Order: sequence, then structure tokens, then C-alpha cells
Amino acid sequence: MFGKKKKKLDSNSMKNGVYLVTVAAPKSVDTEQFNTIRTNITFSSVDESFKSIMITSSGASEGKSTVAANVAASFAKQGKKTLLVDSDLRRPTIASTFNIASTQGLTNFLTDKNFDINEVLYPTTVENLYVMPAGPVPPNPSELIGSKRMKMLKEALTEKLDLVIFDAPPVLSVTDAQLLSVSVDGTILVVRQGEAEKEAVKQSVDLLNHVNAKIIGTIMNDVDVTSTDGYYGYYGYYGKE
Ligand SMILES: Nc1ncnc2c1ncn2[C@@H]1O[C@H](COP(=O)(O)OP(=O)(O)OP(=O)(O)O)[C@@H](O)[C@H]1O
Ligand SMILES: [Mg+2]
Repeated sequence: MFGKKKKKLDSNSMKNGVYLVTVAAPKSVDTEQFNTIRTNITFSSVDESFKSIMITSSGASEGKSTVAANVAASFAKQGKKTLLVDSDLRRPTIASTFNIASTQGLTNFLTDKNFDINEVLYPTTVENLYVMPAGPVPPNPSELIGSKRMKMLKEALTEKLDLVIFDAPPVLSVTDAQLLSVSVDGTILVVRQGEAEKEAVKQSVDLLNHVNAKIIGTIMNDVDVTSTDGYYGYYGYYGKE
């Protein structure tokens, strides 16, 4: 857009994966924050517990992949059979985060009718945590994410596992997150302090509401420690919009 500086995209997590603080430092304050987020997600479902959740944000590099991987690990450690799916087909991170050498993933399943899901469900060093990398980047990511086959996959995965967490692209840059939000039980919006603009967050909420997505809450990430009385970088807050 005119008058706006385009920020350079941070590609560190695509190359090196995200930091799994819940695995590297299980007793840390940051891990405790992710466990609190897990508890809040659990308690925000009234009738039936959420079987599928999507993590998104308004813009890039707000911490979606970091939050998705750590929240997934937190649920797995609690004993829930959890799957983390890399549905950010343009900026995938999961293969790097979990050191998966194979290049196969979600897109192989979505483009090949005879592909067996089990071939792209990888176990991790965390007990009960499985991951599905994105696979080769296709020319038509949005089409694949919005496909009937993607819906079918979601159904099959939620039958097999206790919880499926989708790491999605940002709401404002492509339509994928909106498309995916329709078929999951709940959507969480990550908002990075100092990065996210109020208008952008509002616009994302409007876009998600427009397709009747169920927004279960927001997570403030990278909160300035000097502005709170805490001493942690992750701050989970859940509430109605
Ligand atoms: N609370 C935090 N404190 C410090 N660094 C952070 C924090 N959250 C995320 N980061 C860093 O910011 C960068 C972007 O994080 P991440 O990849 O999780 O974001 P993303 O929203 O998934 O990005 P993308 O839009 O590329 O998918 C990474 O280098 C990550 O390590
Ligand atoms: Mg990401």
C-alpha cells in the first residue's frame, strides 16, 4: 500500500525452526505460560472439547508457528494425542522445527488421491506429539487449503487423534486462514505486541467473523516485560473477542 513501508519478512523460523521452550525448558516461566494457554483453551469449550484448532494472526512473523508448536507440545505432555499440521504452505516451519528430513507432507496427501495419510504423520521426540509438515510448495496453495480433500483430511485426523492444531498463514495476506477457519472447531489469533496494528487485528477479526469462524481467543505475544508486572515474554489472554 502507498505510504507504508514494507517490512522485510523474517525467515529465521523457516530455516531453523521455532524455539520449543516447552521442550527445552519445561520448568521455565514461558512454559508455564503455554500451559496456562492450554488450560484456557480446554476451559473455553463448553459442551464438547475442541478437536481441531487453528492458530493465525493478522500479519507475518507474529509468532503463530512458535505458539502453535509450543501449545501442541503442552497438550501432548498432558497425555493428549496431538497432531500439529503445517498448513502455512508458503512459509512452512514444522519440518525444520522437528528435524524432519523427508520432503513429503500435507500437499502430497492433498494432491494425490492414493496417498496414505499415515505416510505424512511423523512422531516426534515428545511423547504423544505427531507432526505433519507442509510438503512441497504447490502453485495453488489456497485452492488446496479450501478443497474438499482438506475437509476430509481434517475429519479423518480428528477421528484418529485427540487434538489437531493447524499452523496457518496470516489472515490479511492470503485467504487460506479464512478458508480453513470454517472447518475447524476454533480459531486463535496471535497478536504480537509492538508489531500488530490495531486496525489490522480488527480487520482480521471482521474477516473471520464474516465466514462465521469461531474465534476462541487471542494470545498476546512478546509482551514488553517492563509494561507488566510479570517477567515473561509470552502472555496468554483468553476472552470473547
Ligand atoms: N515472544 C517472542 N520473543 C522473542 N522472539 C519471538 C517471540 N515470538 C516469536 N519470536 C521470533 O519471531 C520470529 C517469528 O516467529 P514465528 O515463526 O513463530 O512467527 P509466525 O507468525 O509463524 O511467522 P510467519 O508469518 O513467517 O509464519 C521467529 O524468529 C521467532 O523465534
Ligand atoms: Mg509461521
